[in-house]
Amino acid sequence: MKRFEGKKVVITGAAQGIGQATAQRIAEEGGDVALLDVNEAGLAATQKLVEAHGVGCSLHPCNVRDTAGVHAAVEAAAEALGGVDTLLHIAGVLRTYNTHEMTYEQWDEVIDINLNGTYRVNHAALPHLLKNRFSVIVNMASTAAIGSHPWMSAYAASKGGVISFTRSLYIEYVKQGLRANCVVAGGIATTLHQQFKPPTGGDMDLVRGAMPYGSFAKPKHAASVFAFLASDDARFINGTEVRADGGALS
Ligand SMILES: NC(=O)c1ccc[n+]([C@@H]2O[C@H](COP(=O)([O-])OP(=O)(O)OC[C@H]3O[C@@H](n4cnc5c(N)ncnc54)[C@H](O)[C@@H]3O)[C@@H](O)[C@H]2O)c1
Repeated sequence: MKRFEGKKVVITGAAQGIGQATAQRIAEEGGDVALLDVNEAGLAATQKLVEAHGVGCSLHPCNVRDTAGVHAAVEAAAEALGGVDTLLHIAGVLRTYNTHEMTYEQWDEVIDINLNGTYRVNHAALPHLLKNRFSVIVNMASTAAIGSHPWMSAYAASKGGVISFTRSLYIEYVKQGLRANCVVAGGIATTLHQQFKPPTGGDMDLVRGAMPYGSFAKPKHAASVFAFLASDDARFINGTEVRADGGALS
């Protein structure tokens, strides 16, 4: 399949994990990519993987907490690509705390990266996306937003916000040809997932309902969902979420 030939795709969180796998998938299908992440070494590693497919690839290191930095990175990405018609916003962090012990600074960090970061990246990209007849946004949510996951109240709230934000974008811009959807992922084996640790004494029985049956998925299994939603195959899918969690919440 070459669904992204001629497409100009901005991907955040592209230094590793799901973002890196998504960059590879888009490149494999012929799309030019501009890659954003706070991790410069990781971006360089992804660039090598992407360029093997013979597509255009530019790197724009930035921290999604930095409003000016995000806007500068997206402007540079649009310049390098010659416009932007697809935004795949994947960057995010997971932190686990007992909610009654969580500090306001800890809450703020998660909300600022996952929710405010989604706003910053989408806000910077929208003027470019709206220049095209058809453009696409796919934001990264999580099963934590819709199922019950312990010790992740900040994370769950941030990802619930991403879903609500994305649905608002859909209706606001539908007449301008923009599609906006979320991937609701769960149980993908990445650094983020490996970093999960319950608070001291945390009862692991409480997380069983969030676990997929069998093994965790690989990043490429989430990447294929991003590629589907970003492609014309999903032309009639708008203002909604696709859940990719191995059935954990079913
Ligand atoms: N792995 C899972 O099971 C799972 C499930 C649901 C949702 N998600 C979401 O998927 C996304 C990708 O996570 P992953 O599992 O690939 O983890 P990961 O840790 O491998 O990748 C996250 C990427 O985001 C980048 N990032 C983090 N903070 C940033 C910041 N402030 N500015 C710029 N970039 C930043 C990191 O550098 C990294 O490259 C996240 O939004 C995560 O919440 C993951």
